[in-house]
Amino acid sequence: MATMASCNSSLLAILLFNLLFQGFCQCELKDITIGTERTPAQIEGKQEWNVSFINTCKCPQQALTVSCDGFQSVEKVNPDIFARVGNNCTVNGGRPIAPFATVQFLYAWDPPFIFVPISSHVDCGGAFK
Ligand SMILES: *[C@@H]1O[C@H](CO)[C@@H](O)[C@H](O)[C@H]1NC(C)=O
Ligand SMILES: *[C@@H]1O[C@H](CO)[C@@H](O)[C@H](O)[C@H]1NC(C)=O
Repeated sequence: MATMASCNSSLLAILLFNLLFQGFCQCELKDITIGTERTPAQIEGKQEWNVSFINTCKCPQQALTVSCDGFQSVEKVNPDIFARVGNNCTVNGGRPIAPFATVQFLYAWDPPFIFVPISSHVDCGGAFK
């Protein structure tokens, strides 16, 4: 009986441990939401768009890369937020995007471009990684 009980409680401890250190910090690329909103502005006859990259996870995500092959803009894009690297683009200069934070940039082109996340580095920090 005594061995059963201690076995069960260590199982419980493992379960709790997993919940605490994985359940809360399991971020993936799908936890990046990309939104594109029309702004009231037109630039050189092209519609202006407001692009938001939202980290919907409890850990920071850095080195976010999205596909941007063929992306064009008549408006100068803030290179701190969105910069081309070959066929892809880095978001926020590769710096971490805090949990639930949004980074945003503006561009102008018709039609709007669909950005697809390619990779990110999840940084849950701590000694358990
Ligand atoms: C762009 O969208 C973000 C997030 O919705 C908002 O906070 C920001 O004010 C918008 N900027 C412009 C210029 O529309
Ligand atoms: C862009 O992303 C693609 C798809 O993941 C990858 O194969 C390619 O190496 C990337 N290009 C650059 C310049 O990072």
